[in-house]
Formats: sequence, C-alpha cells, structure tokens
Amino acid sequence: MNPAKNYDDAIHNQSYEARYLTKRITNESMIYDAGRTKESLNGYWSFGIDQYDTCLRARWFEENYVDKDGRYNPMDFSFDEWEKMPVPSCWNVQKEKYFLYEGSAVYTRTFLYQNHGEERVYIKFGAVNYDAKVFLNKEYLGCHKGGSTPFYVEVTGLLKEQNRILVVANNTRNKDHVPTDNTDWFNYGGIYRDVEIIRLPATFIKDFTIALVPDGGFDKIRIGLAIEGAEKNGTANLKIGGLSIDHTVEIRDGLGSAVIEVRPELWSPDNPKLYEASIEFGEDIIREKIGFREIRVDGQEILLNGKPIYLKGISAHEESVKNGKAVSDAEIVENIKLAKEMNCNYMRLAHYPHTERAAQIADEMGILLWEEIPVYWSINFQNQKTYRDAENQLTELIRRDRNRASVIVWAVGNENPDTDARVAFMSALARKAKELDPTRLVSAACMLDHVNHMIDDRLADELDIIGANEYYGWYQPNFDNLVKLFENSKPIKPVIITEFGADAKAGHRGTVDEKGTEDCQHEIYRKQVEVFNRIPYVKGTSPWILYDFRCPRRLHPITQNYYNTKGLLSEDKSYKKLAFYVMQHFYEGR
Ligand code: GCU
Repeated sequence: MNPAKNYDDAIHNQSYEARYLTKRITNESMIYDAGRTKESLNGYWSFGIDQYDTCLRARWFEENYVDKDGRYNPMDFSFDEWEKMPVPSCWNVQKEKYFLYEGSAVYTRTFLYQNHGEERVYIKFGAVNYDAKVFLNKEYLGCHKGGSTPFYVEVTGLLKEQNRILVVANNTRNKDHVPTDNTDWFNYGGIYRDVEIIRLPATFIKDFTIALVPDGGFDKIRIGLAIEGAEKNGTANLKIGGLSIDHTVEIRDGLGSAVIEVRPELWSPDNPKLYEASIEFGEDIIREKIGFREIRVDGQEILLNGKPIYLKGISAHEESVKNGKAVSDAEIVENIKLAKEMNCNYMRLAHYPHTERAAQIADEMGILLWEEIPVYWSINFQNQKTYRDAENQLTELIRRDRNRASVIVWAVGNENPDTDARVAFMSALARKAKELDPTRLVSAACMLDHVNHMIDDRLADELDIIGANEYYGWYQPNFDNLVKLFENSKPIKPVIITEFGADAKAGHRGTVDEKGTEDCQHEIYRKQVEVFNRIPYVKGTSPWILYDFRCPRRLHPITQNYYNTKGLLSEDKSYKKLAFYVMQHFYEGR
C-alpha cells in the first residue's frame, strides 16, 4: 500500500524497529582479547532517556541539523549539551529519577582516533542491558541482544580522526527475552561494563583454548587455536615459562591444536597456581594467566584433581547498593573474601553471567565458580528466537570464560516448569555447553516434585550434576518433608542444593517461629545443614544468598522495602546475620 502523501517516517512509521534488527551482533564476532592493549572509551558520555525511541524513529544518529531543502531543523537534539552519564554504570543508581526507568536511553560521545596502520579494529562492549543498537559516524553497525555478555563490533576502515559513537540501550523486559519479563531481581539498565577499542594485525588469533586433558592423568594439556585473516597457514608458538614450554603448533586453514605432555602444578582453591602463558601467530600475541585443574563426576562423587570434593558454596547476585550491576573489582574481592570467611570453596554466580572480572579474580584468589545463563522461570520455551538468544548467551559466556580454572560448572537455567518444550529447549542448551567445552560440568537449578516429595526432573539426564532448589521451612512450611524428599529420591549422580534459605531483616530478632527474624532464619539453616549431613549423595550447597539484594517483588515496607532479605549479610555487607555462622561452622568441619 502506498504511504499517504503527507507520510512522515519520523512520526508515522510504527515498524521503525525492523530496520535495527538487521546486522545481529553475536558470538561469531567475538575475538580473543586477553592481554591485548585496549584503549578505553569509558568516561562521561552524553545521555538522554528516550522513552518514545525518537532517536531511532527520527534517525538522530544521522545528525541532520538541516532538512533535505537546507532548512534548519527544530533542534530536538544537541548531543553535546545533553546531561553526562558515566560509562560504565547503571542509570538506575546514578539519578533517583532514573531508578525505575525501563526503556531506551541514548548514549553518545566523540573520540579521536589515530590510525597506526593496523589492519583490524574492534570496539568491545563488556555488557549492555538488555539490547544495544550501535552507530558510528552516522552509520548503523548492528544490534546485540542479551544483557550480561560481551560483544565486539568490527569498525575496521570506519574510523576517522574525529568520531562519534552512539548507542541506544534498551532494558525493557519482554516475555520473549532471556530472561523473560518476570524475575526475582532488579532490572538495571545501561552500558554497565567497559567499552574499549582493540587494534589487531591483519591476521590475528580469534580464539584460543587451553586446558588440562581431563583423563585423570594430570600429565597433558590441550590447546586449540582459531586464526582470522589472510594468512591461515603457518605455525603458532605457545610459551609457558614456568613449565619450560616453548611449543610450535601447526596452523592449517586457520585452525590448529596440540596436546603437550607436561605435569603442571594443579590449580585448586587452596593452591590457586597460575602460569604466565603467551601464544603468538605472525604479528599477533596474546598473554594469559592460566590455572590447570581437572573437574569430573564419578558416580555420585565430584572429583577435583582426582579427589572427592564437597562444594561448600554460597549464591550471589551481581549487585551492590552503590553501583547496581556495575560492580567494582573491590566489591568482587570483598564478596570472595566473605565467602572464604564462611569457609566456602565455591560460589554460585546467579542468575546470569557476571562480569569477566569475577572469574579472573576467582582464578587469582582461589574459589570455584558456577556460571549461569538467565534461562529463568518461564522463558518462552516455544519460541525459536528465544532459543537462539539463549544459545548465543551461553556461547558468549563459554567463549569468554572457558580458560578460567575457577569456573567448573556451566548452568543452563533456574527453576523452570518441567514442560516438554522446556526439556527440549534446555536439553539442547546442555548439549551445546558440552559441545563447546567438554572439560567442565553442566548443571541447572531444578525445581523439586513437592507433591511426591522427590528430586525428579526430566532434565537431569542431560546434566552432570543435579542442582536442586528447596525452601523447606520457608516456602514449604513442613520441614519433615525434606527428609522424606531425600529418602524418596534415588539420584545416580551428584546433587547439590543450589538454593535453600529464608528472609530475615538484618537485626530483627524474635522467636524461631517468627518469619522475617534472624532467629527464624538461623533455625531453618540449622535444621537444613543437619539433614545434609545425613544424605550421602548431596555433594554441596550454595544457600540463597550471600547478601540482601534489590528486588521489585519484595514490597513489605518494614521487613523488605524493595529488597529480597534472604542474604546472610545486609545489603551493604556491613552486618552478618546469625545464619552466616551456621554455614561457617558447617563448612569448617568438611
Ligand atoms: C528462587 C529463585 C531466586 C529467588 C529465591 C527467593 O529459588 O531461584 O532467584 O530470589 O527463590 O524466592 O528468594
């Protein structure tokens, strides 16, 4: 149908978004960036909340200050006079008026670029929640979906001496997204992790994997390489000084791999041994700090470096009162120190990929990690696009962190209703994780059968470890059913209790029967761990949760006030509740 003669695209086009859903930026454009020189684009960007998506509708990114007849446009935008917003940050905690905002926001800045004669240039975004449309020098470059994983936009040949980058970030929840529109955490928005320019030679190392061969011998490492560029044949060189490795790897058609006989000192939480490694091909070099360890399941045992281990864990969201999701290194270190003070050897990073700094710091400090994609509750399991987004987020996570010794589990979801569509969707994700990384364990935090009191989830067949969330004593008031559950269940593989707990307002005291008091939370923890001691196939737990966190579903004005208070510490981590010491004691003895 021809548009009306007075049709004005900027105000009448109700399907304007379609032109920005082309050029999907996915895991396929990822590059390996460890140890590379990066030029930061962090700092104060011009910022504007754009509830009606006028920037995308009226194409502000083209900066048409005059119309096609040369007449001066009404100045709806003057980027450089806009307010300034720090990148990285979450807009919700930068200004009170943005706290609950969900929608599009426009970020833009100019930057100078001196071409050094390099051949390939990328701009890396650590994460943008939830989707990001990227424009450079008035040109649309692409759209990334998924709020917790990095993405790389190639800008080779597009940079000038003076450049403008513009990003429309949109955190609107949507039932077809991953996560869907209903979760139990706060929906922060923004460019909340680093933005960096990465310069590469014409031929460069696009991907690199290195790990101990998980065959129980602890005497071989396997490396894999993928090369991008014109020179797809040649030799790469791996150096690991601490192991006297100086090994060449044949590259054919852009791919190469090798198995090298060596007995490295094994990485573990008690001995987080890291080796300086470098890998060179042509003019390109990447540098990594690598820990070598093996994680396996044998029957109902979890074996770390061949020895049975009990995962003495705690769950944590990626959040701080001050920074929202844009947590600092210091806050990550603080969380790991608190976990270690609790005698933990393991953390469940729920319910989405935390910053890559978390696994890097965990490698250094020595703590095992469960990393998870936000296939949470009632994802739209029928929707193929939703599956594609979930699989892309899983691939981006695994490709980002698969050289991190601390990461032992890839988790494909949490508390999902056990429908046929869900089993198919999550089984495919579990198999994809195994295909991408056969050296780690795959799991999910499953719901229980509270009618028959059993651990009975059809997804378990695809998992190495069965994660089980249970709230006996809290959501399931009759605690006696926990023992019945364990007696009724006959799992053939290790089970970890991925969540249990209770709300308690910090400092609120009362009787053990008064819900919301520390005494009640303490009593539930005491009874829970007493039962775990008696169940041989429970091989770990990660109570919910290290500290209280923001949640728009928690509205009781006195005891919750917009916070989920199941933390073992207060939201600012300044106060330890009584139940913290139950876990500290329980783990001490193991
Ligand atoms: C669920 C869910 C958590 C949630 C918790 C709670 O198990 O996995 O994300 O916060 O229970 O209800 O507090």
